[in-house]
Amino acid sequence: MSNARRQTDMRSALFLLALCLFSPPTEAQNEEWWPTATLYQVYPRSLKDTNGDGVGDIKGITESIPHLVEAGIDCVWLSPIYKSPMKDFGYDISDFMSIDPIFGTWEDFLELARVVKEAGLRLVMDIVPNHTSDEHEWFIKSINREDPYTDYYIWKDSLGIDENGTQIPPNNWISAFAGSSWEWNEQRQQFYLHQFTVAQPDLDYRNPLVIEEMKNVLRFWLENGMDGFRVDAPGHIVEHIDFLDEPPTNDPNCPPMQFCQLQHIYTMNQPETLDILWEFRQVVEEYELTSGEKKVIMSEPTNNIVDTMTFYGTPERPLMDFPFNVNFVFDINNQTNASTLKGAIDKWIDNMPAHATANWVMGNHDQPRNRARQGEEFAMALSMVNLLLPGISITYYGEEINMDNTFVSWEQTQDPQGCNAGPEYYQRFSRDPERTPFQWNDQPFAGFTTGNTTWLPVNENYLTLNLEAQRAAERSPFKIFQKLTAARKTDSVKSGAFDHQVLSEHIFAFVREEPPSLSYLVLVNTGYSEAQANARASFAQLPDAGIVYTNTPSSNFQIGDVVGLDAIVLPARGGLVISYLPLV
Ligand code: NOJ
Repeated sequence: MSNARRQTDMRSALFLLALCLFSPPTEAQNEEWWPTATLYQVYPRSLKDTNGDGVGDIKGITESIPHLVEAGIDCVWLSPIYKSPMKDFGYDISDFMSIDPIFGTWEDFLELARVVKEAGLRLVMDIVPNHTSDEHEWFIKSINREDPYTDYYIWKDSLGIDENGTQIPPNNWISAFAGSSWEWNEQRQQFYLHQFTVAQPDLDYRNPLVIEEMKNVLRFWLENGMDGFRVDAPGHIVEHIDFLDEPPTNDPNCPPMQFCQLQHIYTMNQPETLDILWEFRQVVEEYELTSGEKKVIMSEPTNNIVDTMTFYGTPERPLMDFPFNVNFVFDINNQTNASTLKGAIDKWIDNMPAHATANWVMGNHDQPRNRARQGEEFAMALSMVNLLLPGISITYYGEEINMDNTFVSWEQTQDPQGCNAGPEYYQRFSRDPERTPFQWNDQPFAGFTTGNTTWLPVNENYLTLNLEAQRAAERSPFKIFQKLTAARKTDSVKSGAFDHQVLSEHIFAFVREEPPSLSYLVLVNTGYSEAQANARASFAQLPDAGIVYTNTPSSNFQIGDVVGLDAIVLPARGGLVISYLPLV
């Protein structure tokens, strides 16, 4: 055992002891805190760099906590900060129980956890069960067939040697990052499976020892104060036991050897996956029982809504508290009208099990930014929807100031998914444009770093699009965001009734109300020209007039204006939130 590991184990033991001796669970700790939470995803490389190396770090996250408090966030979700060779920027983990030096030290992590708690926020981290780094000691020992690691990964024999003298892989499976999912290992004389980069070998979850290892990882971080986890790539955890070829999609738009070439019927969403998620869930529940603290366990979705919903589990066997709902990301585009917007919302609500809580995601580190997909005004209108619908709302760093995608040239490309696609296709596949440095102010490098370089370029728009400017402005995306997170803390949004309606071809609206409290009417215009709506015709409980609570920049209203609810004017692609007292 390394000294660092021994030290962290001792710290964990002391932490647990202190927890038992000095802090009996309070009522608040015992409550489920996440069903109305506003989550914020931090991509650690890109929030703030304090040591001048151009890469964000833990101290930078700690320094950012006042901003997150001011933004009205409840819970910080960290993308991976574990030790990693960074082939997939932290999603390739070489030690699940230590911090990568590029992000800082164990002490930096403890300080972050302390500051987060002191600010009244929660801290959740990514857990990546499907694979490790090829530099993880389990993999190195597995190559050497050192027990018990020999069968920790998916190893398969070659099917022979082709006419070029190359080993033939066991089947046609294609990695999510393009190319065969199989890599020949000369030393072990076998292929190993990797569903992502070559440097991310897949663990074998048919081996009970692997399940136990991952459960220990969860225990370790719970004991070190984590409020929960986001489970990475759950759909990929188990593969079909027969290792058959996957059928082609015959998609004419899919480039050769890309993931979209195959229907992933043997590599994704196998029924045994749910048993593994149940194992993870039990660790969290055991910890909740002994500590009296409520934790959250959420996951990425998988590639279809039906399988994604199975991640919720059942009341008898709950699995994830919620899988992320990315329908906003995939289903809403520039063709969306009021009824298809409502459809994207209903898709989740109607498919969700009765015991479940909804959640709304507008962007993440794997998809182009909300603003790049929807345009400047509509991105803000959709954030009104995202933050005021019932359930959990998840904000990707930078969305609170409406950051845009950044152009990253082929030469500057870092993301393996972009690099593997080659210069012709990299722009379609690279995730770099949504991962560029947070824009703090108009200083060099947008105030992101104290150094003179950044790992990805800063968006050129930072001189005008930055947090400092938006805090100073009377109206700005950040000010809208603050109003929305403040509304989330009211009873009307936390627990009030929800009714949503299509008012016209382009106007979608919903109400959140808890009579006699102040309630909210949210209206969005999906169309490209100004439109007028009669909200009273669809919502009988609305009074004659309400007050403008917040609105997108092109709206002519001022906050506080009194508006007749039978003739509300919305700008093209705009959104408006009106507060009102419901008729009872
Ligand atoms: C999903 C993560 O969100 C993505 O960023 C990562 O590359 C893959 N899983 C592999 O871990």
